Amino acid sequence: MDDHKDCSMYTEHVESGKRKVTLSLTVNGQFVVRDVDPSLTLLHFLRDELQLFGTKEACGEGECGACTIIMNGKAVTSCIILAVEAEGAQITTVEGLAKDGKLSILQEEFISQDALQCGFCTPGFLMSTRALLDNNPNPTDDEIVEVLSGNLCRCTGYIPIMNAVKRAAERERKELGR
Ligand code: FES
Ligand code: FES
Repeated sequence: MDDHKDCSMYTEHVESGKRKVTLSLTVNGQFVVRDVDPSLTLLHFLRDELQLFGTKEACGEGECGACTIIMNGKAVTSCIILAVEAEGAQITTVEGLAKDGKLSILQEEFISQDALQCGFCTPGFLMSTRALLDNNPNPTDDEIVEVLSGNLCRCTGYIPIMNAVKRAAERERKELGR
């Protein structure tokens, strides 16, 4: 099975036949330049062009949050953004969270709090909550719930995810001085 077909729901990009556009952006700290179909979504760009398969596709309509990444400091659903809209952007995907082979505190807490089962939704939750904690290191429960409401999980339940985010926020404040 091809790696990029790890999800049976994954849709193939259909080339528009239009002239390609040169796209340059920074992904996980690396400057990238590619010629892309103007109808290519950012999700397909990340997966098909850059082989960053951590970002998942489920609904493909901006509703479930599985494809969430951070673009210029904000959590966005990459399935409804065209790659060309990311010209000059700073992008972080789930692959950008671990540093030097070590999981981030947020990732560690998702594991320690049992905040995942099948894991398909997890990259999206990690990126939504990463953006939250980057902008607000000490969120209230209501603020966490509001962010989690943009991501769907069918198997874990939201309490362990909530606990993971709260615990990660505590640890980041203590260990990273946030
Ligand atoms: S796949 Fe993008 S929001 Fe569901
Ligand atoms: S862990 Fe399976 S959908 Fe969330």
